Amino acid sequence: MAFLIVGSIGAFVGICSVLYCLWQWKCGSWLCRSNSSVQPTVANDAIAPPPLRSFSLRHNSLRRLSRQRSGSSSSKQAEKTQSFSFSELADASNNFSIENRIGSGSFGVVYRGKLRDGREVAIKRGENDSLEKKAKKFQEKETAFESELALLSRLHHKHLVGLIGFCQENDERLLVYEYMTNGSLHDHLHNTNNIEKGSSELNSWKMRIKIGLDAARGIHYLHNYAVPPIIHRDIKSSNILLDANWTARVSDFGLSLMGPESDQQFMSTTAVGTVGYIDPEYYVLNVLTPKSDVYGLGVVLLELLTGRKAVFRNREDRTGPMGVVEYAGPRISTGDLQSVLDTRVGVPEIHEVEAVELMAYTAMNCVNLEGKERPNMTNIVANLEKALTLCENSHASLSSTTISLPSD
Ligand SMILES: *[C@@H]1O[C@H](CO)[C@@H](O)[C@H](O)[C@H]1NC(C)=O
Ligand SMILES: *[C@@H]1O[C@H](CO)[C@@H](O)[C@H](O)[C@H]1NC(C)=O
Ligand SMILES: *[C@@H]1O[C@H](CO)[C@@H](O)[C@H](O)[C@H]1NC(C)=O
Ligand SMILES: *[C@@H]1O[C@H](CO)[C@@H](O)[C@H](O)[C@H]1NC(C)=O
Ligand SMILES: *[C@@H]1O[C@H](CO)[C@@H](O)[C@H](O)[C@H]1NC(C)=O
Ligand SMILES: *[C@@H]1O[C@H](CO)[C@@H](O)[C@H](O)[C@H]1NC(C)=O
Repeated sequence: MAFLIVGSIGAFVGICSVLYCLWQWKCGSWLCRSNSSVQPTVANDAIAPPPLRSFSLRHNSLRRLSRQRSGSSSSKQAEKTQSFSFSELADASNNFSIENRIGSGSFGVVYRGKLRDGREVAIKRGENDSLEKKAKKFQEKETAFESELALLSRLHHKHLVGLIGFCQENDERLLVYEYMTNGSLHDHLHNTNNIEKGSSELNSWKMRIKIGLDAARGIHYLHNYAVPPIIHRDIKSSNILLDANWTARVSDFGLSLMGPESDQQFMSTTAVGTVGYIDPEYYVLNVLTPKSDVYGLGVVLLELLTGRKAVFRNREDRTGPMGVVEYAGPRISTGDLQSVLDTRVGVPEIHEVEAVELMAYTAMNCVNLEGKERPNMTNIVANLEKALTLCENSHASLSSTTISLPSD
């Protein structure tokens, strides 16, 4: 009896200590990692590599999360690509009138339109001058065009702008997208008309971080869950659109598939990518990897932080055009993040400081000259999720009202 009691106590203590050790080890490493990771600028060493490694290591939980996310999004039934007639789309967009024109993207001009069933859409119409070239290419691989479009229209994700359908008539090539009520991030950040009226929504650090996170999730999905994986190639603030709920969505993905530019051809032209956002490694070596999108996103994050365009003219010292990376990079890495933050948003409150630093730190890692030194989308989503949590948590008591975003 005594043996039994002593034995079971011993076993119990043993198990407890093993569990305790495990717990210590797990929690300890979590704490350590999160501490070292969120204090880059405090340590006066914003872009030192060690914290990055710790970021990347700790996210098994994230993988689980993203699986859940992708699960839920892919469970939405895949809609069929709709094929529209040209006249239908002409009607919808008031004969492609100037008033309906809402912008121009890769390969064409975008019009706002309303389909007969009442749905609001954005219609992209292939540009005139490139049409002949395109038509030739298309004849070679007409079926590829359709199957690729079918593929794109099957991508449903809350942070991607959905492709609803297309039109293919004679030389006309049109694509029909969901309409994003609140326009592009670029316009909100840089269009001077918007600063006073529309963009007050964007004038909080929490919102800026959320937009960065939304966009990162969209790209993460393209890289990791689209089959085959898609490299966007042209991540920039004008390709990040805001829907009626101010949720950011990535648009214009996969279009490189349908352009005349393919393989070497687009290397020699300047068509793919946008000045200020092109991954320098891609530019120099012509090797396209998912890390090129990471670079583009890094630039977008810096735009969100500084409110500057990817390439801008520095009014203060009247030098030539300057990239936001060259502008913000050195200051952030010397711990002078405050001096580059967008003054429209104001100085981050105490509980936001860490979050903003984490976003800046992530951005700086994204724009690393060497692709392999940049984090992958999984790491980035993890960092921005953490930043958003930091913003929300200490805010909780004050902002239970502001957390729910306007929706209707
Ligand atoms: C982590 O930070 C907390 C406060 O933020 C501090 O109490 C704790 O000692 C830190 N842990 C380590 C390992 O630095
Ligand atoms: C992202 O990088 C981490 C290491 O930093 C790695 O463990 C993980 O597998 C990568 N994820 C993807 C999807 O490549
Ligand atoms: C569009 O143009 C056609 C002729 O090209 C015309 O019959 C039609 O009324 C126009 N529709 C609108 C909405 O302007
Ligand atoms: C488009 O091409 C047609 C003929 O190919 C030409 O008549 C028309 O002027 C062009 N439009 C523009 C805007 O260049
Ligand atoms: C953005 O969306 C809200 C509704 O969610 C709407 O009231 C507002 O007018 C929109 N802003 C712009 C600039 O379209
Ligand atoms: C906005 O959010 C509401 C509820 O949260 C949802 O029903 C609606 O579909 C959303 N709208 C868009 C355009 O995502």
